[in-house]
Amino acid sequence: YGTQSVNNLGHLTIGGVDTVDLTHMYGTPLLVYDIALFKERATAFKETFAKAGIKAQVAYASKAFSSIAIYEVAKEMGLSLDVVSGGELYTAAAADFPREKIHFHGNNKSYTELQFAFDEKIGCIVVDNFLEIEMLKEISESRKEKMNVLLRVTPGVEASTHDYITTGQEDSKFGFDLKNGQADDAVLKLYNHPYITVLGMHCHIGSQIFETDAFRFAAEALMEKMIEWREKFKFICPVLNLGGGFGIRYTEEDKPLHPSAYVEEMEDVVLSMTRKHNYPMPEIWIEPGRSLVGDAGTTLYTTGSSKEVPGVRTYVAVDGGMSDNIRPALYEAKYTAATANRMLDPHADIVTIAGKCCESGDKLIEDAYIAEPAEGDIIAVFCTGAYTYSMASNYNRLPKPAIVFCENGQHQLVVRRETYEDIIRLDIPLQRTEQEIS
Ligand code: LLP
Repeated sequence: YGTQSVNNLGHLTIGGVDTVDLTHMYGTPLLVYDIALFKERATAFKETFAKAGIKAQVAYASKAFSSIAIYEVAKEMGLSLDVVSGGELYTAAAADFPREKIHFHGNNKSYTELQFAFDEKIGCIVVDNFLEIEMLKEISESRKEKMNVLLRVTPGVEASTHDYITTGQEDSKFGFDLKNGQADDAVLKLYNHPYITVLGMHCHIGSQIFETDAFRFAAEALMEKMIEWREKFKFICPVLNLGGGFGIRYTEEDKPLHPSAYVEEMEDVVLSMTRKHNYPMPEIWIEPGRSLVGDAGTTLYTTGSSKEVPGVRTYVAVDGGMSDNIRPALYEAKYTAATANRMLDPHADIVTIAGKCCESGDKLIEDAYIAEPAEGDIIAVFCTGAYTYSMASNYNRLPKPAIVFCENGQHQLVVRRETYEDIIRLDIPLQRTEQEIS
């Protein structure tokens, strides 16, 4: 992946940095990002729009991995930012991310979170439901402050890896249904509002999608609705946001297309429908998360104990697990690995890489094909940049790992490892009187 290579010591390098050296400096588990790869992906998305001469915003869906430093890189790359909570918005503000490029998502934003969005004067709120519409009206009217919004709709397409289905109505907790009049009611409530400007529509049809037709279908469904709204309400959407979900290659079974291929499909639908119906070309916004950070991340672990179940398998345990990567336990997600300190050794064995959490399901890889591991080896698990740290927990009170960015032979710590002090920082010991103590 990306700038990964093997040096003359037989060590895995990322961004020109020896990963074994990194483990000596920062310990394990350690999440290492290849920043050049993140930048390459961001550029690929942006250039696909630029080549077609289409105005666009590429928003990094930061739920995939949120930290001040990654927001700084996203800012440097001219990306917009998708946040889904007050916490992500707070992090973006701490990174001094341009507020006008922040889009705020979520199916249950609180009144306080919406006020925070107004305080920060962010670029756009993606409105999800009728309660939110009422809250937005109230906040904007009482503050006499403007806000741009997109309406999140569910186009009746459900997609995941390898296939997609279309349904009349989508059974989803998100957004306004496109087919049963909800989306029409929503736009009617807002499009003439003195403080709220409806920029257009948004949809997100799923994650880790390989199927270009799913994106085509969604784009068509939204364009049709936009055309209908022009007829019915004389209302024109200047923005069409088609979400994220572009699949990446975790293992050889995954066969994603180049990120630009998905964008080109969307462009094709929007260009041809606007021409056919003489509709003004909207800006296209997208929100990739996984496809920007997924394969840029690699987790380094140190191996400890191992156990052979004769005739069945060998378990090799590492010093992290479901606490820093819940995806195998939660979604049966598959990963590949290598022995980072002995990359040139022959692949001797198929082993199960287990975590250290007190739970039988805490296995990172069922069948890893790696050099026979010995205690103290460094195992690299690839493609762990998305939905790992952002979904990490302190299960078993394991401290969360440190994170390092590597680029051009340089490395920088961007999230420090949690300490035991961090782990108990919110705990409050029982308050007892002297009498109770004695
Ligand atoms: N936009 C919206 C509105 C979303 O809900 C999501 C992801 C994205 C964009 C970014 O999607 P991506 O490009 O990353 O596929 N935790 C799961 C994935 C959950 C995705 C949630 N929404 C996993 O680890 O596979």
